[in-house]
Amino acid sequence: MSLWSRRKFFLTSLAGTAVAGSTKLFGAAPATLGVSLPAAQGKRPLIISSANGVNALHKGMDILKAGGDTLDAVIAAVTVVEDDPNDDSVGYGGLPNEEGEVELDASCMHGPTYRAGSVAGVRRIKNVAKLAQTVMQRTNHVMLVGDGARRFAVAEGFPEENLLTEHSRKIWLAWKASTSFNWRPGIDSPEWKEKMSSIFQGTPEDQALLARAMQVIKDPPTGTIPCMAVDAKGDISATTTTSGLSWKIPGRVGDSPIIGAGCCVDNEVGAAGSTGKGEENIKISGGHTIVEMMRQGKSPTDACLEALSRIARHYKNDKKKLGTFHIYFYALNKDGVHGAASLWLNGYEEGKRAKYAVHDGAESKLVDCATYFDSVGGDQ
Ligand code: GLY
Repeated sequence: MSLWSRRKFFLTSLAGTAVAGSTKLFGAAPATLGVSLPAAQGKRPLIISSANGVNALHKGMDILKAGGDTLDAVIAAVTVVEDDPNDDSVGYGGLPNEEGEVELDASCMHGPTYRAGSVAGVRRIKNVAKLAQTVMQRTNHVMLVGDGARRFAVAEGFPEENLLTEHSRKIWLAWKASTSFNWRPGIDSPEWKEKMSSIFQGTPEDQALLARAMQVIKDPPTGTIPCMAVDAKGDISATTTTSGLSWKIPGRVGDSPIIGAGCCVDNEVGAAGSTGKGEENIKISGGHTIVEMMRQGKSPTDACLEALSRIARHYKNDKKKLGTFHIYFYALNKDGVHGAASLWLNGYEEGKRAKYAVHDGAESKLVDCATYFDSVGGDQ
């Protein structure tokens, strides 16, 4: 059966799944409806994330193996990615807003205590997942935004710094040059027409940067890292952190800091997170939707596909409209069964299939996502 026909099978089988799922919540073999992939086996402890976390999950797994807290584990893993200047979708070096300012969003949920924390539109503070955890632990609030969140971070001892690296500054300048004549050499300049030549030199590094600039100017990314973990006892936590949509209007907030959209945990059921166009996720409360689907007995993968089907229904499954964006969902249940689904077959890396990262205690590896459409698409 092709992926697409399996997809149709999935859509026509939803009613049957709900009935079957009501017999037993956990401990049963995971449902495999609509999925071309082998059913994931449950294993604990376990930690998963979007593909960009594959080299960071070991940090979280070390904490889980030592009997540490699941929230400390996921925060430790995503902090590696936030600190990495080469990941321009998260934390330090994230691609900035239209004014060249990096603005970060993050959230977290701690399953065992049913607590949450979140920050949005934060400038000059690199480790916003940890900041969301600090809001959760040290205030009577769930969400802080903008300058209030920055001032809270400074009061709590977080260092303030410029988050725009040379890499991201040059790409932002290239985006400006591509959108406005005023940010290009004028007609009196020998560099007129060659609008990028004043930004990028002939070095191999600058040529690689130019290629990256062309890619992100065409498809402004909404890269992000959601990360979720279950420990040996079955306690669950999750976090999601991002620099959001590149070139956004200052103040734009995506799904990542929205509890119930970009991050959701119910310690009796599981956790879910997302990457891609946050606006679409916010409209379906994707994280909450997926957790509730898992409560009703769906496997993590089928719950993620159901969330995608709700987004697709908003556009009557019109591939042209849906092709203007990309979105992924990731989920983990209390048994350590995991899954992810992407709207399109392709991942963020050009020419590569959509994948996510899983550390099962032995190794961290990339695993194929189930896909809603069996074709390449999505601008983000
Ligand atoms: N999913 C990340 C964002 O839309 O900001």
